[in-house]
Amino acid sequence: MTTPRVLVTYGSRHGATAGIAEQIGATLRADGCDADVVPAGSAADVAAYDAVVLGGALYAGRWHADARRFARRHGGELADRPVFLFSSGPIDDSAAKGEVPPAPGVARLAARLGAREHVTFGGSVTAETPGWLARQLLRRGHGGDFRDPERVRSWAHHVAADLNEAESD
Ligand SMILES: Cc1cc2nc3c(=O)[nH]c(=O)nc-3n(C[C@H](O)[C@H](O)[C@H](O)COP(=O)(O)O)c2cc1C
Repeated sequence: MTTPRVLVTYGSRHGATAGIAEQIGATLRADGCDADVVPAGSAADVAAYDAVVLGGALYAGRWHADARRFARRHGGELADRPVFLFSSGPIDDSAAKGEVPPAPGVARLAARLGAREHVTFGGSVTAETPGWLARQLLRRGHGGDFRDPERVRSWAHHVAADLNEAESD
C-alpha cells in the first residue's frame, strides 16, 4: 500500500479559507496521507499528486478568482484524478445546520471536473477583515467566525478514508 499524495489548494482573500485548507491538510497527514497545502495562485505541479482538494472563498456568489483559474488551467489533470471541492462562505450557521448547495458556477465546475464531492463550510468575517463591505456586514450584526473545525476535520477524515481505501485496492 502506498501513501496517497494529496494537493490541498485554495483561493482565499482574507485567510479564512486558507485556515480551513491548513486544517484539512493537517487531518489528511494525521490519517496517513502525504498532503501539501498551497495557495491556488502558486500551485502548479498537479501531475505530482494522486488527488486534489480544491477550495474557494465565496464572494458575491462566486469562488475566489485563484480557485476558478486553477480549475480552468488544470482541468485536464484534475479530471484524471480524484477531486474534492469545498467552499467557504456563509456568515451564519446554515452550513453547520445542513448541506448548503454549491453556488451555480461551482456546481458547473464540479460537474466538469467529475468531482467526487463538494461541501460548504461556514466562513469568517471579523473586525480584522478589511474592506467597506465587511465593515457594513459587521455593523449590521452579520459578522463572526462560522468556520467549524469539527466539521472540517470530519470531512477531511472522510476524504482520507476514501483515498486510503483506493490505495489499498
Ligand atoms: C464582500 C463580501 C462578499 C461575500 N459574499 C459571499 C457570498 O456571496 N456567499 C457566501 O456564502 N459568503 C460570502 N461572503 C463571506 C466570505 O465568503 C467568507 O467571509 C469567507 O470565509 C472569506 O474567506 P477568505 O477569508 O478566505 O477570503 C462574503 C464576504 C464579503 C466580505
